[in-house]
Amino acid sequence: MRKRLVAGNWKMNTDLNDGFRLLKDILDEIREKELENSDVHIYAPFTHLKVFANTLNGSGILLGAQNCHHETSGAFTGEISTDMLASVPVGGVLVGHSERRQYFGETSEQLRGKIEQALNSDLSIIYCFGETLEERESGSHYDVVEQQLRSVLSGLPADAWQHITLAYEPVWAIGTGKTATAEQAQEVHAHARGVLADISSAEVSNSIRILYGGSVKPNNAAELFGQDDIDGGLIGGASLKADSFADIVRA
Ligand code: PGA
Repeated sequence: MRKRLVAGNWKMNTDLNDGFRLLKDILDEIREKELENSDVHIYAPFTHLKVFANTLNGSGILLGAQNCHHETSGAFTGEISTDMLASVPVGGVLVGHSERRQYFGETSEQLRGKIEQALNSDLSIIYCFGETLEERESGSHYDVVEQQLRSVLSGLPADAWQHITLAYEPVWAIGTGKTATAEQAQEVHAHARGVLADISSAEVSNSIRILYGGSVKPNNAAELFGQDDIDGGLIGGASLKADSFADIVRA
């Protein structure tokens, strides 16, 4: 059985004061009982991490960063390494979000580097993938998704997989209010599991969690999470309101 996971991706939202208030509200909403049924992660802005790490200590909620650099250290002004994150301490990192690919030109090679760095620093990873609207409309979404998985994840050591979660996020559904139907999402999740079986093992492919992301809201979460190959969600907009995030966790 794969334990459900609901992860909030705050993106570039909230200053430290507003963020701290939101975190407190989330802690008030999410109780032990909910954490028995589902893991909960919060991917906060870098500036919030130290304060949040203190607040979340012992809460059962994992704190993560939204990005990291693909080298260990050195002359990379403005960048943050995985060792820096681990020392906060932060427990995980997002890699390959479509906004990073699209606006910051992150390549498969860099994403692979980030994953290796995160593994070396003992961070868990959510690796995001998903097609654009154009790719979906031209029918190439299965190939695109397969390529995003193969080019970055092939050849990882067997013990790496336990630290990795995948998140299928069709770019056309992110922040647009347009959710993939549960059926559309399930099809791609099943396809991703097939690709994983090929690049890792049947065991890994059965045990790895694959989240869905893209306009998940309290009113569509239960149907999406009810699909065989959907193990939870990566939540953007709806993670910025404590009650809607908690309702999604409950779903
Ligand atoms: P959204 O974002 O829920 O606002 O669509 C999801 C994501 O980008 O992780």
